[in-house]
Amino acid sequence: MGFCKDFVWGAASAAIQIEGAAYEDGKAPSLWDVYARYPGAVYRGQNADTACDHYHRFQEDVALMKRMGLTAYRYSISWPRVLPQGTGEVNQKGLDFYDRLLDALLEAGIEPYLTLFHWDYPYALYQKGGWMNPDSSDWFAAYADRITRRYGDRVKHFITINEPECFVGAFESGDLAPFYRVHRRDYLQMAHNALLGHGKAVQAVRANCPGAACGFAATNWLKYPITDEPENVELARKRCFELNEPTVTSFPWWTEAVYLGRYPAAAVAAAGPDMPVIGQNDMALISQPLDFFGMNHYTGIPVAPDGTQGDPVFSDNAPRSTYDWPLQPRAFYYAAKFMYERYGLPILVTENGYSGNDLVSADGKVHDAYRIEQLSSYLKALRRAADEGVPVLGYFHWALMDNFEWAQGYGKRFGLAYVNFDTQERILKDSGTYYRKVIESNGEIL
Ligand code: NOJ
Repeated sequence: MGFCKDFVWGAASAAIQIEGAAYEDGKAPSLWDVYARYPGAVYRGQNADTACDHYHRFQEDVALMKRMGLTAYRYSISWPRVLPQGTGEVNQKGLDFYDRLLDALLEAGIEPYLTLFHWDYPYALYQKGGWMNPDSSDWFAAYADRITRRYGDRVKHFITINEPECFVGAFESGDLAPFYRVHRRDYLQMAHNALLGHGKAVQAVRANCPGAACGFAATNWLKYPITDEPENVELARKRCFELNEPTVTSFPWWTEAVYLGRYPAAAVAAAGPDMPVIGQNDMALISQPLDFFGMNHYTGIPVAPDGTQGDPVFSDNAPRSTYDWPLQPRAFYYAAKFMYERYGLPILVTENGYSGNDLVSADGKVHDAYRIEQLSSYLKALRRAADEGVPVLGYFHWALMDNFEWAQGYGKRFGLAYVNFDTQERILKDSGTYYRKVIESNGEIL
């Protein structure tokens, strides 16, 4: 019992959140580089120009991963770094950077998990309509083809797109770049195009990297029962996959399409004329078999036996992160269970973590007891799911180190390592040391 022998112990990052070198060596701007400068968009007017300067410090960062005992690392490639215009001419220096990073990881015995797209959309393509453009899925497919050809000899695990709820949802909520809202008809079309892009990227992985595993990383605040009574569990499960609103920021819109080949019926009915144009083979393309269920999970929405749900049913004084996200390991356990039971794929936790007000104490250390509690309680919850027969392949903690947290700038710290953004010094937090021990014991010491 417990975690399987070859359980993957990792940490995660994304290109724009750590790399910096935003205008160096031929990289062109992404949507985020441009729109972070929109007045009032990002906390304190910050941007990702330098971030963690990982572009220049990746060797030190790989050494940090080694110090943590990681067996795997999830990272993404910056599309506009390797294809400045999004299509066409490649930027050799950008490709070379990812070769060096990859080789350093392999040299350190750390298994790479590569995300093709984690939100830093090439600005040049955004100017052509971005995901609204009918060619957008082909642009992404061509990029995926180049990346899988180039790195497929060394990368054995791919994630196509990360949290489309957020990068398409940006156009629904206005909270993320480009910080404006569009009509439902338009964001639903973008959502469909992004999923076609996902499907075509899966084809690229299959064609260029035989034997590699491929997945998709969705997120949401999933519903979970506040008691383990069967009626409560069934109620929460139903709510989890039920979607009346045709909203792309909701989870089943994506997971039902990717894993079952259909949009939720209630959402289709509610969308009416705003539903995207769906070609005859689209849903088959979108729902090609995947190798794991990539799960980004932070917290959930409790459902009480009487059907009430959300914050008002909290009676347990759940601790909250600096994002105000409640610590809810139960939600994590039920997420793994519900997803496996519905979609039948082994679970790979592609993200999970906690933002804190981390600070360097007088002893030079970062004592982030809350993150240790988060790790311990969430991993115990995951182990409970594994003990009950849910196949769990691995766990990637978000994040390797503090980084550029989108509209929150550097104001939210998620790292297992602290980053001093003035000096770029990295300090392993207490949680990083704890995680190392967890890894060494394969999750026994939680
Ligand atoms: C979701 C995203 O994938 C990642 O980029 C972000 O930083 C974390 N979760 C925390 O919000």
